[in-house]
Amino acid sequence: MALVTTTEMFKKAYAGGYAIGAFNINNMEIIQAITEAAEEEKSPVILQVSAGARKYAKHTYLMALAKAAIEDTGIDLALHLDHGDSFELCKSCIDGGFTSVMIDGSKYGFEENIALTRKVVEYAHDRGVVVEAELGKLAGVEDDVNVSEDDAMYTNPDEVEEFVSKTGVDSLAIAIGTSHGAYKFKGEPRLRFDILEEVGRRLPGFPIVLHGASSVIPELVDEINACGGAMDGARGVPEEMLRQAARLAVCKINIDSDIRLAMTAGIRRVMTQDPSAFDPRKYLSVGREEVKKMVKHKIHTVLGSAGTL
Ligand code: G3H
Ligand code: 13P
Ligand code: ZN
Repeated sequence: MALVTTTEMFKKAYAGGYAIGAFNINNMEIIQAITEAAEEEKSPVILQVSAGARKYAKHTYLMALAKAAIEDTGIDLALHLDHGDSFELCKSCIDGGFTSVMIDGSKYGFEENIALTRKVVEYAHDRGVVVEAELGKLAGVEDDVNVSEDDAMYTNPDEVEEFVSKTGVDSLAIAIGTSHGAYKFKGEPRLRFDILEEVGRRLPGFPIVLHGASSVIPELVDEINACGGAMDGARGVPEEMLRQAARLAVCKINIDSDIRLAMTAGIRRVMTQDPSAFDPRKYLSVGREEVKKMVKHKIHTVLGSAGTL
């Protein structure tokens, strides 16, 4: 078993009408929770690392933990850079053993995004690494960048064929109304499935990626609030919408906020029920268990990837 690229995973997912969960990692407990859930559900999974997470935990630790998870669970894993914002960051992750990188040129104009993405693709492909790019702009918070709902831009389907053919990219993140973080919709949740369907028609068989795809599980938000938290108004993408996207061209569904919520709910519960608790193993193991339960739930209800390993 090994670190693998997403190529085969996406091929099978596209044909099977399901999606692969790409879960953000930044510590041992989260990695264990995700990979144990994947092993028990016989589901492929992608571990992804943001620039902020890489700074927090350090590249060396995350590599070693991902390899340890492969050894422990006996399943293949893809290790992916989430929202790489420069050629240098992508290069560093490729040189350091990641099997997949995202170059997020969505803040640039069309031609500049193409040029940057092409440069990363050339470097990555020469080294057997695959690349995800982004066209369109999601609202929400990424690292320290906050894009308001008004500044978000849906992907224009007229641009996708030219972007993919000129860059040679392996998968494409598109903006259809999802956003990062735990506060996704002010009013009723709405996704532009018409855009997703049109992109699917323009790029038959090509894997599409959905960012900002946490459902912000209401039970977790309620538990956090009941245990002293303050997350009123938190709201995510309804699970049926995500499942529908996975049946279409979406092969990769990004989930970070739901991990944060599950971990926080577990830790807050222990702290509330036992204010004397001060052994990190006591509350981190409960947080880890909550994350594992949540990932299993996603694999079954949202991704549809159970039993496909
Ligand atoms: O895309 C956003 C992810 O949730 C990563 O968040 O940059 O705070 O680690 P982060
Ligand atoms: P969420 O904030 O919805 O979990 O999105 C995570 C994401 O898109 C990571 O790239
Ligand atoms: Zn994202």
